[in-house]
Amino acid sequence: MTIIARRLVLALPAALLAAPALAQGFPTQPITMVIPFAAGGPTDTVGRLIAEAMARDLGQSVIVVNVGGAGGTLGAQRVAQARPDGHTILLHHIGMATIPTLYRRLAYDPVNGFETIGMVTEVPMTLVARRDFPAQTLQELVAHVRRERDRINLANAGIGAASHLCGLLLQSTLNVQMTTVPYNGTGPAMNDLVGGRVDLMCDQTTNTTEHIRAGTIRAYAATTPARVASLPDLPTAAEAGLPGFEVSVWHGLYAPRGTPAPVIERLSRALQVALRDERVVSRFRDLGTEPVPAERATPGYHRRFWEADIAKWRPIIQAAGTFAD
Ligand code: MLT
Repeated sequence: MTIIARRLVLALPAALLAAPALAQGFPTQPITMVIPFAAGGPTDTVGRLIAEAMARDLGQSVIVVNVGGAGGTLGAQRVAQARPDGHTILLHHIGMATIPTLYRRLAYDPVNGFETIGMVTEVPMTLVARRDFPAQTLQELVAHVRRERDRINLANAGIGAASHLCGLLLQSTLNVQMTTVPYNGTGPAMNDLVGGRVDLMCDQTTNTTEHIRAGTIRAYAATTPARVASLPDLPTAAEAGLPGFEVSVWHGLYAPRGTPAPVIERLSRALQVALRDERVVSRFRDLGTEPVPAERATPGYHRRFWEADIAKWRPIIQAAGTFAD
């Protein structure tokens, strides 16, 4: 045996012992949860609820940091390039499945740059407009958009955002092109919708429910097969005359590639505890969503689901030929 090989053999037991030790001491400092969109938006809302409940289980603060921009890729990059010790994690959504195809040039690996921790929730979307938009129903909206397409703008949170995907589906369903207005999250986009500075948006119920109930925006339909329990008067798109206009937005938690498996397991356990937390469950319900069952909040399930979703979106994006670059 060479000297180098002998050293490796001697070093091995120490390395094996280090992994469980890492999990036992973990977390040794506050955890940063990166939200790749602006504060006040739907991902931020989900993230802050989860962060607070995970912190109670982990015995350390989980500090939410918003790194918005470029459709969620800037925040994802921050986490992919962070120290892989479990103290920096990412909450991201369906964009993790579309970005690997939509973006052909990124400064990080959008698939192999991450470990999966577990899925969090699947959020319905709603098609909404400024309060004084001149269409009362989805049918009127469709007619209006077809007539006035050049004068209507559609807010979104950048290429790869859920609002972008839903807006694309709307435009392809209606076979029209609208002017899109990108923001670094639908939180600020919602401010402009409420203020009447943009016309339309497709956004998650975690951001739209309270505005719809308060009447500060107008809602046309939910993009789910069944009505959203928290908005029982809102028809589904199919009921309102637009079958096939369906999108829901799954969210998951990630750590940088190379984060030790015991640390990932510890984070996943904290996520599962958070998803059973009464405040999380009831706030999710108020906002039209619910936590995923415990078996989906695991690294293995999350990885399989994510990979299947990347494979599902790849041919759709390639056929559409709309890339970010
Ligand atoms: C956000 O948190 O701003 C949204 O999730 C953006 C989006 O994906 O539409």
